[in-house]
Amino acid sequence: MNRILIGAQWGDEGKGKIIDLLARKSDIIVRYQGGNNAGHTVRFSDKTYILHLIPSGILHSGKVCVIGNGVVLDPEAFFEEVDVLESKGINVDGRLFVSEQAHLIMPYHKIMDCLREENLKKSEMIGTTKRGIGPCYADKMARVGLRAGDLKNLGYFKDRLESVLEEKNAVLRKIYGHPGISFKEVYKHCLKYRKRLLGFLTDTPTYLYNASRKGKSILFEGAQGTLLDVDHGTYPYVTSSNASVGGAIAGSGVSPTVIDRVIGVVKAYTTRVGEGPFPTQFPASLMKQIQTKGEEFGATTGRPRRCGWFDAVIARYSVRINGLDEMAMMKLDVLSGLPEIKIAVAYKLGGKEFSDFPPSSCDFSRCQPVYETMKGWNEDLTGVRRWKQLPPNARKYLKRLESLMETPISVVSIGSKRSQTIFL
Ligand code: IMP
Repeated sequence: MNRILIGAQWGDEGKGKIIDLLARKSDIIVRYQGGNNAGHTVRFSDKTYILHLIPSGILHSGKVCVIGNGVVLDPEAFFEEVDVLESKGINVDGRLFVSEQAHLIMPYHKIMDCLREENLKKSEMIGTTKRGIGPCYADKMARVGLRAGDLKNLGYFKDRLESVLEEKNAVLRKIYGHPGISFKEVYKHCLKYRKRLLGFLTDTPTYLYNASRKGKSILFEGAQGTLLDVDHGTYPYVTSSNASVGGAIAGSGVSPTVIDRVIGVVKAYTTRVGEGPFPTQFPASLMKQIQTKGEEFGATTGRPRRCGWFDAVIARYSVRINGLDEMAMMKLDVLSGLPEIKIAVAYKLGGKEFSDFPPSSCDFSRCQPVYETMKGWNEDLTGVRRWKQLPPNARKYLKRLESLMETPISVVSIGSKRSQTIFL
């Protein structure tokens, strides 16, 4: 069984926990897009791990993890993560592979990410994670990127870096008044990681092709969420990769015909980190309450996440874009104690009401949510283990979401522990 797991909102849906559950049933776990802008929190053997780049499946001994060609890899961040895992007794040798075609995040990408954000008007800021993600993907598309496999041939790598750096320094100096960055410095930085990185490099599309032909079960671990997808999200307030289902195919080199199931992950409310329109955002006091109760602080940057009501328009849109077969509903427990719960079932714009996500960012930023209100519940859900133990109003809420999303909910999560999960 080959499955793709996708965030169906703006990221931070709680994918880490579901990946961990599915990793047990899989042989190989693949990251296919994004970089160390992601943060997957996993509770494993009573310890909490936050993984940014390495697939969460690495925590399970014997599982093979792949960082695909669609990922942008910061060698410094990669080895920091490897070292933390190994210091905790998790050995990655022989079961962690990096695509030769994965693009490298270079020191100048991180500098550019920061400078670009600092030079934008407040209203135009994206609120990036400043990890160099956007500039690295921009270079990939402009065909001036450096790939992990380029490090195999030092002469080639050196020549390319020299010519790319010339242009980068011109931009840094002329546009941003930055002193620039010396070739020697960047080259030294790359050499520092080169030998160790070469040991992880693999022709991952061929590896995955052969594994799938042998009947191995592959889990494709999405990062971020559909509304942050560079094509289908709330552009320009998005990340620079395809966080929706197409990213899994392009970013791993496998054929769509080998995929059996696409699973979406949503939170029982909505969150968003960084800038950009968010129609169902809570008023300040409720925001604080849910932020605190739901521990809504970014796993990568520590920034508080903006919180709001469940938006069924975007969830349904994600179902359509990704062809989601089922949904995992996360953090239902956080909503306990609210007298009433709202769901955005449609948007209103210019006197018109509609229930499809608008393709125009300009329209989306002016949409007003149309809410349906349901009764809340007071019971603490963290000890619930079966559907029937859920309070009737919580069950009604889930049933309504299921019908609005036109997709069955297969998992309900009511806490971070593995045992705090209801399978339907
Ligand atoms: P970048 O990916 O660092 O370029 O950031 C672009 C936008 O995506 C910003 O609004 C970030 O806050 C958001 N973003 C990037 N990665 C994540 C994530 O893993 N979870 C939630 N938001 C993210």
